[in-house]
Parts: sequence; structure tokens; C-alpha cells
Amino acid sequence: MAESNTDTKSSNQMWGGRFASGPDAIMEEINASIGFDKKLFAQDIRGSIAHATMLAHQGIISAEDKDKIVHGLNTILSEIERGNFEFSRRLEDIHMNIEARLATLIGPAAGRLHTARSRNDQVALDFRLWVKEELEKTEKMLTGLIAAFLDRAEEHAESVMPGFTHLQTAQPVTFGHHCMAYVEMFGRDRSRVRHAIEHLDESPIGAAALAGTGYPIDRHMTAKALGFREPTRNSIDTVSDRDFAIEFLAIAAITGMHLSRLAEEIVIWSTPQFGFVRLSDAFSTGSSIMPQKKNPDAAELVRAKTGRINGSLIALLTIMKGLPLAYSKDMQEDKEQVFDAAESLELAIAAMTGMVRDMTVNTARMKAAAGSGFSTATDLADWLVREAGLPFRDAHHVTGRAVALAESKGCGLAELPLADLQAIHSDITNKVYDVLTVEASVASRKSFGGTAPSEVRKQIAFWRARN
Ligand code: ARG
Repeated sequence: MAESNTDTKSSNQMWGGRFASGPDAIMEEINASIGFDKKLFAQDIRGSIAHATMLAHQGIISAEDKDKIVHGLNTILSEIERGNFEFSRRLEDIHMNIEARLATLIGPAAGRLHTARSRNDQVALDFRLWVKEELEKTEKMLTGLIAAFLDRAEEHAESVMPGFTHLQTAQPVTFGHHCMAYVEMFGRDRSRVRHAIEHLDESPIGAAALAGTGYPIDRHMTAKALGFREPTRNSIDTVSDRDFAIEFLAIAAITGMHLSRLAEEIVIWSTPQFGFVRLSDAFSTGSSIMPQKKNPDAAELVRAKTGRINGSLIALLTIMKGLPLAYSKDMQEDKEQVFDAAESLELAIAAMTGMVRDMTVNTARMKAAAGSGFSTATDLADWLVREAGLPFRDAHHVTGRAVALAESKGCGLAELPLADLQAIHSDITNKVYDVLTVEASVASRKSFGGTAPSEVRKQIAFWRARN
């Protein structure tokens, strides 16, 4: 789609009535948004068709003019879709590019389309429609990611792995439980998306420049035609806020943060040192010099995309924070941030869904690692509380001595001879060995939301019913 930049001398055909000459070349360059807002063409045309239909219904324009306008707009839609439309920077933005083409196609009737509206409510409408569709897409993609995790969680409800705090072995958990932690995170992200859709589900069109209009328009009619719950309730707010875009970016940033933590775990897990997972060839690359390497590039890029998304959120917050009501041209800078973040987010969710579905889980490695690092020390302390009646603090101290002994002998807690344990505390019996294995440790943690396979399966069932 070519952009023409000719004829800078004549004044703008849409708003140039009081201007003797056209803009300076630099003015045109800084002012134009067509380079990026052409992405809004479908929303712009939908909005215009709904507006024109309402104007005719209210007797503000004639039915014949409305028919010409609608026909012309549909022609333009297919021209753009087929790549047959010449975008012009001289016409600034998508709204004026389409309106100018409409004038060429249908003549003077085109001039009636902009009755009772302004580009201020027009752009607010187009952008809201775009963000709404993007949120709906995000909701579906998150549902796909959650489904991928539910499948892996079910498959690995019993697979033990080390649970970490400070990235140091803490207590054994199951891989299924770990997967379900991500289900919770992405489930909250998805409910944030749903709330955001509810927040923005009001139609801006008809707010006009900022004060509403004297024409007898029907904003409920356009709201309904465009699939909004209702029209917005304050025309000044309607054209002056972009919180719906900021909310999208904030959700993208939070979701990105979750995706990035997962990416980081995958990077760590796929090292030969950990060896917990093996990425499929489809989501890794080789090295051009080191033949043995398999690099988790997709995970690394998901981690990096999060930085871009955070940047977009801060950019738009900063753009908006000093603006007096109502519209200021600063707001034109909202779109590139949202478009870029949306692209990054979609890619990141898609890549992660693929990686989670495809990766091979090395349960033997995970289990071996789960048993190292004295991961059942808490189980020993709990046994002393339960079976020997010790206060937890004393049990903690006794266990610490057992850990120190095992460490000096270079063995695990379960390998310490009973005599050694009894030398530390005389009430210890050979029943203690029942809780020192990782399987016993995991199976005992049946508290609601705990890591026991029985509990993890309950949570999987809970989410399956909601996904
Ligand atoms: N391209 C503009 C934007 O994206 C459209 C609104 C222009 N309104 C105005 N009063 N100049 O914000």
C-alpha cells in the first residue's frame, strides 16, 4: 500500500477552510498518523456505517445519501482489504483518507457523513473497537494456554520435583502442582481481561468534538449497532481519556511478567545442569559454532518482549499524565504503543503455549533432584512434632542437627542410620523413614491448595470446569 506525499502546497481539503497554504513538510511528518492508524480501517468503516445509518434513521440525512455513503464505504473496505487503496500522508490519518476517497467515489453526499461527529469521537470509537477485539483475542489465547497447562498438570500430578525458594531446594512438590501455579496466574490475567472488556464496553460515537451535538442523534442506536452495552455518559470524558488503552497495556504488562517468569524457568530447566525439560526442536535453535547446543531462544524472546510491553505502558501513562481535558493531539501517540504491545503479547502467549505443549519432561531427573538438598527436612521436623510431641521450634533445631550430620557424611536424610538419628533425639524410631522419602512428603501435603497429588487433581477438576 503506497503512501503518496505530493501536493503539500494546497491547504487540507478536510479542515483547510481558514488556511491559505499547506503545512510545512516537517509539520506534515510530525502530524500524520496514517503510517500506523491505517490499522484501524475496518473499525473506522464500521463506525461510519453505523453513524450514517443512525443519521438517516433520525432524518438528519436522506436515505439516498445514506445508501450512497454505505455503498461507498463498503467499496473502500474491499479496496483496502485487496491492497488497492492509496494512503496519503497529506490526508493525515485513516479517518480523512477514507472520507476523501468516499468523496471521490460518491461525490457531495460524502460530505454529509461527518454531520454530528468529530474526529475526536471517531478516533475514540475506532480505537476502542480495536482494543476490544484485541482483548477478546487475548482472552481466547489465555484459555488455550491454560488448557495446555491443565493437560501437563494432569499428566504429571504425581511427578515429584524440587520446590524452590531463593532458587534453593526447599520442599518436594509435584510438577503438576507447579503447572497449576501458572494456571492460577493466567486465570487471573484472563479475568482482568474480562473486566477490561466490561469497562470499555461503552460507545463513544456522538460525543462529537467534546460537548455533544445539537443534532437529534440517537447514541443508543449506534451503541447497539456497534455491539456496545450502552453509550458513554460524559462527552468530555469520552474524547479525553485513553484509560481503556492503558488498562490493556497494564494487563499486557502483568501477563507479560507471568510469561517472562515461565520463560525464565524454562531457560533454567532446559540447561544440561538442571535437565528437567527438553524443548522440542520446533521451539529451540542450534548454535552456528557449537554443535552440541540447543538454545531456548523462544523462551528468551518471550522474556525480552516483556520489556517492550512494560515500555509501552510507561510511555502511554507518561503521554497522558499531563493533559488537560479534553482532546489533545498528544493522544495520537497512543496507538503505536498499543499495537506494538499487542503484537508482542500475542506472540509471547502463542510461543509459550507451544513450548508448554511440546516440551519433554524428564521425571527421573526431577525426582533425583527432589531428593537432594535435604528437601524432606521439614517432614522430619513435622514427624517430631506429631510423633514425639516436640514443640515445632525444638523439632526444627533437632532436624537442623540431623541435616548437619548428613551433610558431613555426604548422604541424604533417609540414608542416616537409625542409631545416628537416635543419638540426636532418643524418641526417633524407625517409623521416621516413612516420611523421609519425597513421595511420602508430597502425599502428606493434603491441605487445601497443597501439593499432594489428590489435592492437585481436585484443582485440575476445578479449572477444567471453568476453562
Ligand atoms: N489522528 C488523530 C488521533 O489519532 C485523530 C483525531 C484528530 N482530532 C483532532 N482534533 N485533531 O488522535
